[in-house]
Parts: sequence; structure tokens; C-alpha cells
Amino acid sequence: MDLFRRKSVTSLQKEAETDHSLKRALGALNLTMLGIGAIIGTGIFVLTGTVAAQNAGPAVVLSFVLAGLASIFAALCYAEFASLVPMAGSAYTYGYATLGELVAWIIGWDLVLEYALGAVTVAIGWSGYVVSFLKDIGINMPCALSAARGVAVQCADGTTTTAIFNLPAMIIIAIITTLLVVGIKESANVNNVIVFIKVAVVLLFIVAAAHAVNPANWHPFIPPSTGTRGEFGWTGVMTGAGVVFFAYIGFDAVSTAAQEAKNPQRDMPIGIIGSLLICTVLYIIVSGIATGVMSYKDLNVPDPIAVAADRAGLGWMASLIKLGAIAGLSSVILVMLLGQSRVFWTMSRDGLLPPFVNKVHPRFQTPWITSIITGVAVMIPAAFFTVREAGSLVSIGTLLAFVIVSIGILVLRVREPGLKRAFKTPWVWFVAPMGAISAVYLMVSLPWRTWERLLIWFGIGIVIYFLYGVRKSKLAVKG
Ligand code: ALA
Repeated sequence: MDLFRRKSVTSLQKEAETDHSLKRALGALNLTMLGIGAIIGTGIFVLTGTVAAQNAGPAVVLSFVLAGLASIFAALCYAEFASLVPMAGSAYTYGYATLGELVAWIIGWDLVLEYALGAVTVAIGWSGYVVSFLKDIGINMPCALSAARGVAVQCADGTTTTAIFNLPAMIIIAIITTLLVVGIKESANVNNVIVFIKVAVVLLFIVAAAHAVNPANWHPFIPPSTGTRGEFGWTGVMTGAGVVFFAYIGFDAVSTAAQEAKNPQRDMPIGIIGSLLICTVLYIIVSGIATGVMSYKDLNVPDPIAVAADRAGLGWMASLIKLGAIAGLSSVILVMLLGQSRVFWTMSRDGLLPPFVNKVHPRFQTPWITSIITGVAVMIPAAFFTVREAGSLVSIGTLLAFVIVSIGILVLRVREPGLKRAFKTPWVWFVAPMGAISAVYLMVSLPWRTWERLLIWFGIGIVIYFLYGVRKSKLAVKG
């Protein structure tokens, strides 16, 4: 039993070139928009306030810079891999090419935390925003159907009831799953519109609220530590970076669209790095303005950007910001579901998951079975659970993928230096180790219970691999 059998890069490249089962419809712009679609979401609209008030004060800006740097190191490595091995499996396939089958399976299993659990978390947040937005415009959802099972919700008539399930979360997942089945071009077009709305809202906030910045609110920039680790001072800035890292998750999902890109060698790096840079700049400016218009102490609210707009005398923007957040979260769900279905599809084609799921729809040219399975698998927890702590599990899963991709890029540089690389990670011997080290650092800043859950998740994954994949994988069968 060879647990470290590998797929060669040349065979993967040939597969990517000759396989036309998915429709190649995406150009550089669409890919960049997919990246922005996945990145801007709960992170900027919610976590900015939490981190400013609890960890970093106005230096939440620095937390964004640090988390952004860690992401840029990883993005440069993803860009090299995605142009070299443009396969829908993303980090899973890169792992298969460099570190062998067992590690590849572990990354594939790990990506479920990023993509599927990410979609669950964001769909629940989406539902909260939609219920509140509808209430603002006088429409009340049946309250028993507006939150997770067992949650006490307040109804329009003032009574309190216990919710049965979260209908809005289910509906958004069903709609997006249908869209993903119908076509990649259609999905990208809808994503473009949504991204346009959310970026417009963010820009409007920047332009309209900038005049209300009072530099006095930025002093002290790093409030002195309370004595407890992570509460202000430098440790607060670092802990804050671990938390706001969630806001950057998603740029890597662009790489799962590699087999649907017209010219992946050129466009993958543009989509991955371009979307990340744009969002990093927006995040730094937005967090600077939010902490500039009011005291960071007052930002610990569920909707800090709307509250900051209100303080800047832009009360009219509150509903618009909610709309921007709803749009933002919809596209995050879209790209996460897209990423998950592509990773499952590739794993099934490699024999690590049952073969019947890797069918491509004859007309729509989409991996429709994995899309539907992903949709249903995400819909059930989104309907019934609250996921207060899932965000950190999503982050740790993503960070682990970053570590492996950063190491993988070095392994490949050593093992196959002569490969023709359309995009080369600059200063790779600095960037890749920094990518791995900063991701490990952010992982360490996450709570121990997140680690426990990660280990349990891997335990389950490894059992499944030894019950199924180890014998059924195409490489095993061939061997
Ligand atoms: N980056 C995404 C968000 O902030 C996951 O919602």
C-alpha cells in the first residue's frame, strides 16, 4: 500500500489540456470578480467592529494589513500552482502532485471545512441580514421559520417563539445550487452583478464617510494592553489578525474554476492576486474610516459599518449597507459552493470518492451531481444549527491548506525545477516559507477547541480514506 503515490505534473497538465468536459467560459475579469465575490462578506461587515472593540482598537487596520500579508504570500503560491496545474481540485490536486495521495485526501477533506462549512456559516449570517432587512421594509418572515431549531426568536407581534428551522438559509442555498447547475457562465454573470452592488456600497461608504473622520479617534492607535493576552497592545493586534483573516478567505476558490477558465495559465494569477489586492486595499480603508468616525469602544455591534455610517451623519445609508452585506454574502455562498462541488468532482474522478458523482450535465456542462450533493449537504446544517464557533474552524481549515500549498510549491521547485511555469512566485524562497510560517502563526492564535475539532474532523476523514479511497483510487487500481 503506497500512501504517498503521486500524480505527475505532466500527466495532470495533459489532463487539464485535453479534458473539455467542463465549459471553458471564464476570462480574467470574471475570475477576478469571482475572487472578490468570495472575499468580501461577513469579515468586513461584522468582524471589523468586533476586533476594534475587543482586540486592537484603531489598530484593527494593522490586523487587516498583517492578515492581508499572510494571504498575499499564500496567493502568490496558489497563483504559480493554478497556472502550472490548472485543475478544479485546487489545493487537493496540488497536494496530489507534490506530497502524495494521503496528504491530498487530507487536504481535500480539509477543504470541506473551508468551502462547505464556510457556505453554512455565511448562509446563516445571510439569513439574519435578510430577516432584518425585510423587517425594515415592513415584511415579516414567519418567525418560527427564521432561525435555527430551538433558538428563541421575537415575532412581529412582540411574542417570543422557538424557531423550527432556518428557511431563508435553505432558500438561498437552493437558489444558488440551481444557478450553479444551470451554468458556469450564468453563475459568473449573476456573481458580477452582485459584486458590482457590494463594491459600490463599500465605495459609497468610503467616499461619504471620509469627511466625518476625526483623527482624535485614532489616538491611541494601539490602545495599551489590559494585561490579558489578546486584549489590546501588540498581542491584541496579532489576535485581531487571526480573527479578521476570515475576511480574506475565498481568493483561493478562484483556482477551483481553473478548468472553466479560457486561458488559465495567464488568467488564474490575475484572478487570484488581483481580487486579493483589491479587497486588501478596500479593507484597510474601510477599517480606518470606521475607527476614525467613532470611538472603537462603540463598535462592538452586529452591524459596525452601518453604525459608523450613522455616526458620520449618513443614517440613510443603513439600509443600503444591509443590502450590500446581503449581496456580499450571497456571492460568498456562490463561490464557496462552486469551489466545494469542483473539489468533490475532482476527488471522485481520481477514484477517492464514488464515481457516479462525477457526471457532467450533457447540456449545461456543469458537475451537476456534486453541485446538488454539496447544496443538500450544506442546506441541512444551515437550516438547523447555529454556528457560533464555525468561523474559526473555517479559518483553520483554510490556513492549513495555505501551509500545504506553500510547502508544496517549494517541493516542486526542488523536484521539478525545469517545468515550464507560466507564473513564477517571486522570491519563492522567502515568500513560500513566509506563507507557511504566517499561516501556522495565525492557526496557533486560534482557540484550542478549534484544534480539537480539526483533529476530530481529520480522524473521520482518515477512517473514510482507509475504508474506501486507499483501494478505489485510480492510482491504486492502476498499480
Ligand atoms: N471572506 C468571506 C467573508 O468575509 C468568507 O465572509
